[in-house]
Amino acid sequence: MVAALPEFAPQDTVFVWFDVAQIQLYNQDLDTDTPPDAVAALRIAVTQADAIVIATPEYNHSIPAVTKNFIDWASRPFMKGSLTKKKIMVLVCGPVAGSGSHGLAATRQVLELLGNTVSFALAIGEAHKKVKDIDGQATVVDSDLAQQLRAGVTELLV
Ligand SMILES: Cc1cc2nc3c(=O)[nH]c(=O)nc-3n(C[C@H](O)[C@H](O)[C@H](O)COP(=O)(O)O)c2cc1C
Repeated sequence: MVAALPEFAPQDTVFVWFDVAQIQLYNQDLDTDTPPDAVAALRIAVTQADAIVIATPEYNHSIPAVTKNFIDWASRPFMKGSLTKKKIMVLVCGPVAGSGSHGLAATRQVLELLGNTVSFALAIGEAHKKVKDIDGQATVVDSDLAQQLRAGVTELLV
């Protein structure tokens, strides 16, 4: 899904992607002046970003642990961490039509608690039917979704 986003952005937009599954489980004992290297790198990238895209599935009508773990690391110190006062696009995918809205609401609530602005939020049901790998390139094949993502990316980059 996220790999398809650059086609909706101006050519000079720089996307920096993080696979947040690589970050270890949040542990306050490790959240010192010298946090784990992957966390330090993530916090720098989030701090430097003009805008953030969070793309995640919905698990049990909520935020998957891996996604929440990223938010928890990036949120500290509270209201002084990297993930505050950011403009954020949230995409929540689900396997069936109409799914993703609960995960979206849960993600949005946490991001807004941290003082961020969710400028665009979209639940994408049947995501696997709408984005396909074509010649090794993630491609949005659903025209309604393409239109929504173009509007979302435009809003994010204003
Ligand atoms: C633990 C778990 C809980 C899930 N809960 C939900 C859910 O509440 N709502 C939903 O729409 N999909 C749920 N799913 C499905 C995921 O959203 C789906 O696996 C994910 O979007 C990836 O889809 P894909 O396998 O088509 O790439 C759940 C999946 C798992 C593994």
